[in-house]
Amino acid sequence: MKTVTAGTIGLTGLAGCTGGGGSEATTTTTDATTETTESMDGGDTTTEGESSTDYKPLEVQHWWTGGDGNKAVTALFEGFKQKYPDIKLKENPVPGGGGTNLHTVIKKRVLNNNPPSSWQAWPGKNLQPFVEAGKLKDIGDSVWSKNGMKDAYLKGPKDAAKPGGKFVTVPINIHRLNNLFYNKKVVEKAGVDPASISKPSDLVAAMKKVENNTDAVGMAHSTKHPWPTLDLWEAVLLGEYGRNTYQAVAEGKIAENQQAVKGALQTVKDYKQYFNEDNGSVSWTEANTKVINGEAAFYQQGDWAAGMYRGQDGFEFGTHWDQVSFPGSKGVYAFNMDSFPFPKNNPSPKATEKFLQYCGSVDAQERFNPKKGSIPPRTDVPKDEFGPFLQRQMDDFKNSKAQVPSITHGLAVAPEPLTGMKDATATFTSDWNVDKTFQQMKQAFN
Ligand code: BGC
Repeated sequence: MKTVTAGTIGLTGLAGCTGGGGSEATTTTTDATTETTESMDGGDTTTEGESSTDYKPLEVQHWWTGGDGNKAVTALFEGFKQKYPDIKLKENPVPGGGGTNLHTVIKKRVLNNNPPSSWQAWPGKNLQPFVEAGKLKDIGDSVWSKNGMKDAYLKGPKDAAKPGGKFVTVPINIHRLNNLFYNKKVVEKAGVDPASISKPSDLVAAMKKVENNTDAVGMAHSTKHPWPTLDLWEAVLLGEYGRNTYQAVAEGKIAENQQAVKGALQTVKDYKQYFNEDNGSVSWTEANTKVINGEAAFYQQGDWAAGMYRGQDGFEFGTHWDQVSFPGSKGVYAFNMDSFPFPKNNPSPKATEKFLQYCGSVDAQERFNPKKGSIPPRTDVPKDEFGPFLQRQMDDFKNSKAQVPSITHGLAVAPEPLTGMKDATATFTSDWNVDKTFQQMKQAFN
């Protein structure tokens, strides 16, 4: 495989993975180092005839800590250890929802040719700069030809695993973004029927009713980091202005869609008065506990929020919480995925191959997804473990008239413009200036 020299477009793009400015740059984590000094190009590995003693320790980085998917990743690692007891696995988590801190750590380690064995990474456009910089290995044969992966995977995840035309990563889940979760008791007490809210702007009146008739706030939200507000904005954009506009905006056509971009910002601004007062200091998981405790009626989030409900005793789907498609977006599945890429200079190439093969298996996806609140990218994973909510998400996915990739979660937008979008959102949540944010969003793609 070819390499691109430093300073070319590839590394420039990679430099945009974290960007400066915005609260994304506020990492407090330290750079992890691998335990081995061996530097190998992952391109020359083979699993033929290897003995278990050949395995170097595997280092895997992710941001699934606490309520944000920890039970799911623990179940995944348990399954892997059962299958490969001889491979030492070193988990090296970097907390921070939406990858707030991990992106920074990974960019630095990859640029220093000191990557972990693999890490939690959105596939698709997010990995494009890594591919352009020649940092990822082609795993079409070593991984994707195993476990019937090429036949069993849905087309979308398979395509997202090939950001530059070759397989470089293994998607493990599909999350949905255009959800409106709600506390059932609160909305019932308020006399609000979430299914009857037909467009995002109508949610304002519903939240007013909640606040008039209950002690709860209309909407749980976190503005501590920009990504949940960018998420909310993209859900509003999709629901109010439709998927063609959404997709054009994801392609960077901000100026051409001025009215929609600004209109969606204004709607988010209209929601603000119904947010929990501490929105600036709580994380997305802390905001979600307000739905669980009945302190908030609604929550717009990816269905990782449902993974958290599932781990909560006495908070049952259908009785205590439920979900509708975000108003105006019924029939559309706005999605993102998590995947595990194979970097070159891999500290443990053989162990990494095994780990990635495992992530692509039925067993791994059956263990991980029910706890994560996501559905599997393989089509042959038995549904029994998934429970009624995720089974409904699977049906919604299957019956959806369109599946649109997430802007905020890196599938549709490359790291550099995405950093610009997050910076614009960080400014928005401090001054709530629609015109200024629109200009900054436009700049993000220039
Ligand atoms: C990831 C999810 C994660 C969520 C919140 C998303 O970008 O895809 O796996 O649960 O961020 O941190």
